[in-house]
Formats: sequence, C-alpha cells, structure tokens
Amino acid sequence: MSKRTFSRRAALIAAAAAGVTTLSCLARTRATLLGYPFSGPAADRSLGLAPPLACTRAIPESTEGPFYTPETPLRTNLREPDTSGRPLVLQGLVLSPDCRPIGGAVVDIWHADEHGRYDNSGFRYRGHQYTDDAGAFRFETIRPVRYTGRTPHIHVKVQGPSTRLLTTQLYFADLRDENARDSIYHDDLLLDLSRTPQGWLGRFDFVLAPA
Ligand SMILES: [Fe+2]
Repeated sequence: MSKRTFSRRAALIAAAAAGVTTLSCLARTRATLLGYPFSGPAADRSLGLAPPLACTRAIPESTEGPFYTPETPLRTNLREPDTSGRPLVLQGLVLSPDCRPIGGAVVDIWHADEHGRYDNSGFRYRGHQYTDDAGAFRFETIRPVRYTGRTPHIHVKVQGPSTRLLTTQLYFADLRDENARDSIYHDDLLLDLSRTPQGWLGRFDFVLAPA
C-alpha cells in the first residue's frame, strides 16, 4: 500500500468515525430531551419575568407517579372548552445555577382535572412546550383537584438542551392542611400563587444543573 493510499484511507476512516460521533451526539441530545425533537427556543413570550436574585436553591426531585404519558402535544393552552375548573396560568423561568436563562428547554406538565381524575387514554391536561430565549414558559390550564391520598399538585418534567432531567411536582400554598397530610409534599415546591381578574397565577422557576 502506498503512503498516499494509506493516508487517504486513514482520512476516510477518521471522517466516518467523526460522522458516527456527530450522529450519536445528536441522537443522545434528542433522546435526553424527553424524546421530543429539539427545535430551539420558542418564539419570544414577552413575559418580562425578572430572574430571582440567586439560583443556588436546589429544586427537590419528586416521583413522576403512575400517570405519566410521554409524547404529549406541543401547546400552551391545556384548558378544555367544557371545563368547570378554576383557571390557572402556570409560568416561570428555566435557569442555570448562575441565573442565566435556558432557552429551548422542554417543560412537560400533566395533572388531574377538576374531578381529580387523570386522562390516561388521551392528553387532557397534558402538554409540553419549549422555553423562549429568556428561559420563560407559560401554560394556561386549570387548578387540579385532590384525589385519594394526594393534595392537589402539578407534575413536571423539565430539561434543557444540555442539562440533566428534573422530574418533580408543584403545590398550592393556599392548601396548607391538605399539603401537610401528603407524605410526598415538599415546602420548596410551592408555587408563588396569586389571584388575578382572570383566575389564578402560579409562578415557579426551575434551576437545572448541567448534564
Ligand atoms: Fe399525581
């Protein structure tokens, strides 16, 4: 084998290996984003949410429970047209530990309906979206109702393009007694809850550690 042929073959092998590596990285990136195709940050939501002063607080993880359904619809409005549930806007930021916004993070939520039931055959009160360049997300939904053994809560999975996956649950501060009776409840997972003329507003900021 001539030196020139060898070099060409070596170059081809190196190029092929690089291609495989790139493909496997892509596959890994896609696979880690909760199985959703990564399409970059969402359009600017213009929420103007000020980031917190510090992002050092670790967000507790919590079980996903038995009712998670993957591959939910991409959407911001989860409200069913016939619902009698109390309107809730759930919004916040996804941030790095140094308080920088994480755009293009997937936020996937699911919760019980106004009767305390999950839709386990369809996607009622299930949906995901991507954060915008400011790291902001915003869902229009309803306040879930308690079911046996559980205080009302919203399940969440959050993951940025290069962060680890966080699975947790969010709670309502105005349900102190019910929260206290729930063995899964955690004080650090309370929504910052307020009332508006349109209903309830709950804010929660997620800080995600690098992968
Ligand atoms: Fe649940």
